[in-house]
Amino acid sequence: MTYQVILPAAGRGKRMGAGKNKLLLELDGIPVLIHTLRVFERDAACNGIILAINSQDEPEFQLLFKRFNMTKKVCLVTGGTERQYSIYNALKTVKSDGMILVHDAARPFIQIEHIHRLVEKAEKTGAAIIGVPAKDTMKTVKDGLVAATVERSSLWAIQTPQAFRVSLLQDAYERAEKDQFLGTDDASLVERLGHPIAMVEGDYENIKLTTPEDLYIAEAILKKRQREIS
Ligand code: CTP
Ligand code: MG
Repeated sequence: MTYQVILPAAGRGKRMGAGKNKLLLELDGIPVLIHTLRVFERDAACNGIILAINSQDEPEFQLLFKRFNMTKKVCLVTGGTERQYSIYNALKTVKSDGMILVHDAARPFIQIEHIHRLVEKAEKTGAAIIGVPAKDTMKTVKDGLVAATVERSSLWAIQTPQAFRVSLLQDAYERAEKDQFLGTDDASLVERLGHPIAMVEGDYENIKLTTPEDLYIAEAILKKRQREIS
């Protein structure tokens, strides 16, 4: 089992409100970006990392690669104005037709064991995504009024990584561009092709750092994992 991974990292982190790319914020003295990169550096099955970045961030990112001694080849591409465009730019540089993963650089807690379960599934089906069953009761709301209560047992919160056969994801991105379709995840582009997507259960710790509260949760997850190791 081998794969390459695209890490979109070209966002501005507006909801985090840190005044800079949230991936530069530190957890236990190490930037979020480095935490995420280290997972894929550690994983022997990962044979390439394509990082989509905003050119404004490049000098600072390069300094971090040196400071934290990132040895696995990280290939930089220029991101776009939307996450989907950043990933498309990265995907265009992928030549071989193996397995490609897309993983938000803002999710530093992904576990290698889950990555491997996902890739194994995608090798069989062509497409697989990771997520967790919804915990809250979910309702649709319109004009300030509850419209309906949605059956919770069929609802899942979707995370990354998402894994695909390279040619399938490339077809999906080309079609989305042609149709001017903008999705909120990669699987939604593949769904439009009518291709089935397997669902793999991950864990609730694989959070995306989005708003300031997420930083407290992230510190707690990190501490818990450090306790488990020692
Ligand atoms: N991303 C990207 N290119 C963009 C927008 C987002 O590569 N044009 C990346 C982010 O860097 C992040 C991931 O996609 O790793 C998920 O996006 P999100 O959590 O929305 O991050 P931001 O866009 O940075 O945050 P915000 O939406 O609050 O500005
Ligand atoms: Mg965003």
